[in-house]
Amino acid sequence: MGKNVVVLSGSPRKGGTTDRLVDAFAEGAAGSERVVSVFRVADMEIGGCLGCNHCFRETGVCARKDGMGSVLEELRKADVLVFASPVYYFGVSSQLKAAVDRMYALMKEGMRVKRAALLMTCGDDTDAAAAPSIAMFRRVFAYMRWEEAGIVVTPRLHEPSDIEGREELERAKNLGRNI
Ligand SMILES: Cc1cc2nc3c(=O)[nH]c(=O)nc-3n(C[C@H](O)[C@H](O)[C@H](O)COP(=O)(O)O)c2cc1C
Repeated sequence: MGKNVVVLSGSPRKGGTTDRLVDAFAEGAAGSERVVSVFRVADMEIGGCLGCNHCFRETGVCARKDGMGSVLEELRKADVLVFASPVYYFGVSSQLKAAVDRMYALMKEGMRVKRAALLMTCGDDTDAAAAPSIAMFRRVFAYMRWEEAGIVVTPRLHEPSDIEGREELERAKNLGRNI
């Protein structure tokens, strides 16, 4: 049976380094009976979770009617979930965090996701800038009982072209192939 792979990608910069990393992953994942859906959540007007618990009173129904609606529909069908973001102040972009928080709408009904992965870009010389985000996602994966399929961090990135020829693109592609 085919697998649905959903990518929530949080960079607001179109054609930037995070987009390139996601493209490499999606290229690797394409075919093999997989359907890959990439959401550039920064383009989608997704507000933060209101914490109103409407989704618990009316299972799966989010009180906020905005761009997250179509994402939630795909998330319901997802077998694999991939998060992608540039490091912003040692965390993920606010746009990705808003989408992550809004997954709360599916908490009561549950998700069918089995595996998850993380793709990150940063300007620092080392992967260390991504450590707080990796720690956060590892806690999320464990809490949700999602197997960690892989994490690819690409440091030393400022301009979009900085990622060209980098070995992390191949690692992201391989992660896609094996997802
Ligand atoms: C608002 C903002 C905050 C950033 N904060 C960090 C940071 O804390 N650590 C870091 O290593 N890079 C930081 N960066 C650099 C980006 O993570 C890096 O350039 C990344 O490749 C940008 O991704 P993009 O090409 O998809 O826009 C920051 C960039 C921006 C715009």
